[in-house]
Amino acid sequence: MPRTPLIAGNWKMHGLKDALGFFDELAASGAVSERRELLVCLPATLVAAAVHAARRHGIRIGGQDCHTESSGAHTGDISAAMLRDAGADFVIVGHSERRADHGETDDIVRAKAETARASDLTPIICVGETLEDREAGREEDVVGRQLAGSIPPVFGPADYVIAYEPVWAIGTGRTASAGDIAAMHAFIRSQVPDGEEVRILYGGSVKPENAREILALENVDGALVGGASLNAESFAAIAKSS
Ligand code: 13P
Repeated sequence: MPRTPLIAGNWKMHGLKDALGFFDELAASGAVSERRELLVCLPATLVAAAVHAARRHGIRIGGQDCHTESSGAHTGDISAAMLRDAGADFVIVGHSERRADHGETDDIVRAKAETARASDLTPIICVGETLEDREAGREEDVVGRQLAGSIPPVFGPADYVIAYEPVWAIGTGRTASAGDIAAMHAFIRSQVPDGEEVRILYGGSVKPENAREILALENVDGALVGGASLNAESFAAIAKSS
């Protein structure tokens, strides 16, 4: 079964209501096509309105995190069931910013992935090594451990998406080399059950200038784009490179 490319934006903590014209602009750019899936993961406050603005164009909406439980006494948290109820189709779990800022462990990420799936969302499970790990040559050990701990063992290949985001390439303008990306994506595919069918995205300073080279790599099935997804023109240019 061919793996349909998935081009996903992650707006992080950016975006107010007046940013939602983005979806009409993205559609007008001609980036929407049956050849690829387009997704934007937004702040929770924008999800419902974005679904309204994006669905008619065939663009999907996701959240950026969810709680491990579907409801409960957890002030300020958002559950997968709530994101689903607002119309989301995907949710990012285990982004390195959450692993670092909120102390999220592989066990927590796995529980979030499970609850996301149970709510009919597709989790995008993020993994990636730090610069220190890479300089010490232990990037495969680190990512291998994150995969083993973060992906629920009961998951089939269509239940989730993996995003490989080397921490040192996020928001730094420093992209991993094509060789490093190709090697890590091949490693990841070899580590997960039915790996041939799992979509593996690359993230970390993806921009229009480097998207074509990255997206052409054999085991790269799409991108998770931060900064360059905030602008419809640059996100469209990346999408059209797939
Ligand atoms: P940048 O594209 O801004 O480097 O962010 C990548 C990322 O963290 C996407 O989740």
